[in-house]
Amino acid sequence: MLGAPFIWRPWGELYEAVVTGRPAFERIFGSNLFDHLAEHPDDSSIFDAAMSSHSTMISTILAAYDFSRFDRIVDVGGGRGELLLGILSAYPKLQGVLYDLPTVVAGAAVVRTGPVASRCEVVGGDFFKRVPEGADAYVLKQIIHSWNDEDASRILKNCRRAIKNDGTLLIMGDVLRQSSKPDPNGGLMDMMMLVLSPGQERTEEEYRALLEHAGFSLTRVIRTPGPSIIESRPA
Ligand SMILES: C[S@@+](CC[C@H](N)C(=O)[O-])C[C@H]1O[C@@H](n2cnc3c(N)ncnc32)[C@H](O)[C@@H]1O
Repeated sequence: MLGAPFIWRPWGELYEAVVTGRPAFERIFGSNLFDHLAEHPDDSSIFDAAMSSHSTMISTILAAYDFSRFDRIVDVGGGRGELLLGILSAYPKLQGVLYDLPTVVAGAAVVRTGPVASRCEVVGGDFFKRVPEGADAYVLKQIIHSWNDEDASRILKNCRRAIKNDGTLLIMGDVLRQSSKPDPNGGLMDMMMLVLSPGQERTEEEYRALLEHAGFSLTRVIRTPGPSIIESRPA
């Protein structure tokens, strides 16, 4: 994916992105990343396959977090379903909902067929409009960092409307350290978000504020060798 023109051309305009604070992607391609992917199936299949290839991250997440108290989990923007497949396989009583754009969930063969298919619903939709209701766990892995605070709040508020009052929201991704020291993972991803999207990586305090604004209260941040897990509950 990193060598595909829809990624390296925006990186080539890093300087303009830093100076203007505006995503290079939109200036080059005339639309945001996800609208572009919806209209370019070749790029979309590269992107979706790259997202699906993070299997080592799934074992890291499973080792770091106990999902056993949940009955029903929604993976919001869950791509083709690999993370949900990993979680449902590890917890045989858990029900799952894979939620992503209709064009993306069309490729979710791993949860439509096979051992977890009977426990997994696949729903196509737009998380800016709604999120499937009534679950006690909502996962957003590498989602919030692609959006500015206004758009991120819209997604989180839709999760707040959908989640059970005693539910748990789990944002997974990098959490920037509050220091001027280099942060190789978070810093590089922060620049990736700058060139590709109107998003950014955030510190724990920035996540806390974003979550509070959407009606959640941050309960803890679990750092792992892969993505951090930011746990919150309805306030
Ligand atoms: C960076 S990928 C992360 C995918 C997956 N959660 C993972 O960690 O591998 C962002 C995901 O958000 C989905 N997405 C973008 N805009 C969306 C929207 N408006 N509604 C639902 N899903 C959306 C994309 O299709 C993509 O699968």
